[in-house]
Amino acid sequence: MSPLPEYFQPGFGENEELTFDKLPMTGSLPAWLSGTLLRNGPGTFRVGEQRYRHWFDGLAMLHKFSFGGGQVSYANKFLHNRAYTEAQAIGRIAYSEFATDPCRSLFGKVMSVFSPQITDSAKVSLTKIADRFVALAETPIQVEFDPKTLEMAGVLKYEENEVGQMTTVHPHHDAGTMYNVVTRYHAISHYRLYGLAGSTQSNLIGQIPTTRPAYMHSFGLSQNYAILTEFPLVVNPIHLLLWLRPFIENFRWQPERGTPFWLLNRHTGEKVGRIDGDPFFAFHHVNAFEQGDELVVDIVAYPDDGVISAFYLNRLAEPDSEIPFGELRRYRLPLRGPNQKRRASYEVLSDACLELPRFDYDRYNMDASYRYVYASSINPAQRHGFYNQVVKVDVRNGRSQTWYEPNCYPGEPVFVGAPDRTAEDDGVVLSVVLDAAAGRSFLLVLDAASFTERARAEIPHAVLFGYHGDYFESI
Ligand SMILES: [Fe+2]
Repeated sequence: MSPLPEYFQPGFGENEELTFDKLPMTGSLPAWLSGTLLRNGPGTFRVGEQRYRHWFDGLAMLHKFSFGGGQVSYANKFLHNRAYTEAQAIGRIAYSEFATDPCRSLFGKVMSVFSPQITDSAKVSLTKIADRFVALAETPIQVEFDPKTLEMAGVLKYEENEVGQMTTVHPHHDAGTMYNVVTRYHAISHYRLYGLAGSTQSNLIGQIPTTRPAYMHSFGLSQNYAILTEFPLVVNPIHLLLWLRPFIENFRWQPERGTPFWLLNRHTGEKVGRIDGDPFFAFHHVNAFEQGDELVVDIVAYPDDGVISAFYLNRLAEPDSEIPFGELRRYRLPLRGPNQKRRASYEVLSDACLELPRFDYDRYNMDASYRYVYASSINPAQRHGFYNQVVKVDVRNGRSQTWYEPNCYPGEPVFVGAPDRTAEDDGVVLSVVLDAAAGRSFLLVLDAASFTERARAEIPHAVLFGYHGDYFESI
């Protein structure tokens, strides 16, 4: 048997719950850095003797890095939701996840997204809705937690079945309203744009009907539009009702459909139009803005849906596995003219590989002058394995800067701006990095402007490869 890649066991194993008031640190932190980085991701890929099958499975775990007085504290905790507590009680995987479905054989009953037995393992991202902190999943069950203790505080069921069954985990925030797209599966399915002002009241703004709903992990937002990029990875909803296989395996890649961009007026809900484009797949929109008669949509794109297959754990356990390169594309959508004559075009903004992209959302969301994107990346000279560098791309000229260290695997880089900044990249970039040689992780603090290491705080265990997080000044 081939040896496992060095990142596999520490990155896709199990985590204990730990608390440390002060992590050992080298370098120094900026004096203004006094908030908290909260991160979400899987806390274990194993329950009893069973293993999850895919990077997007696993039981949710929150991580918390608090900064103050030049020091960093750390704590992590499983979300003690149904998926976690029932798994602990029975010693087996209890709920169906993205690509793992143990439920049929376990209980002899049909599971589906129409059933109340869907997972509440909200492990993908997190956000703040009014004054509540919420862990988000693609299923409509969102879990509120206390950002100080990481204890689960309740289930926020603002997405009931009447609303829809699947949601993106990347809501947008603008002028006190949180926007998200929820897919409601039915004979005629709908993509539904919701606005949430305040903490609980969500309003349907507009919707687009479809007979073959697509897998959409994020969407775009500009000054006037919600941009629903309908990748041709689609499902016949009857297959989700029958639930013969895990969720994502019900979807089919149908490139002949192309990738249309649907535009909804986000103020009135009016369906503005459909602009066709060649087929591609993406998880993450980056930024979008209106410029003259065009809508500009930046997105991390792949030629097809092969990136989903690349994240099955048996593939990631292969010594020669390669993850498809995510490509930062700038799509231009004509806003004028008859629908049938409009077509999306794109240019590639950088030759670097990008995934888990971030930028200065607070100041530059929907802003044409934005310049820098930060992302996890793959070093072209070390092509095999998992994401092994961090990259900063200047979208104006395509130049990139990288942070790379052998045997190190950085997660999503979160930009935190200096409070009084005048330059877009005046701040730091925070990334949880697995040091496979040391068998543990560290929190990397990069100076965002020079993209050089400013500090690192050693975490006393290897943090499993997570997905998304955010920095909050107020915690
Ligand atoms: Fe995501």
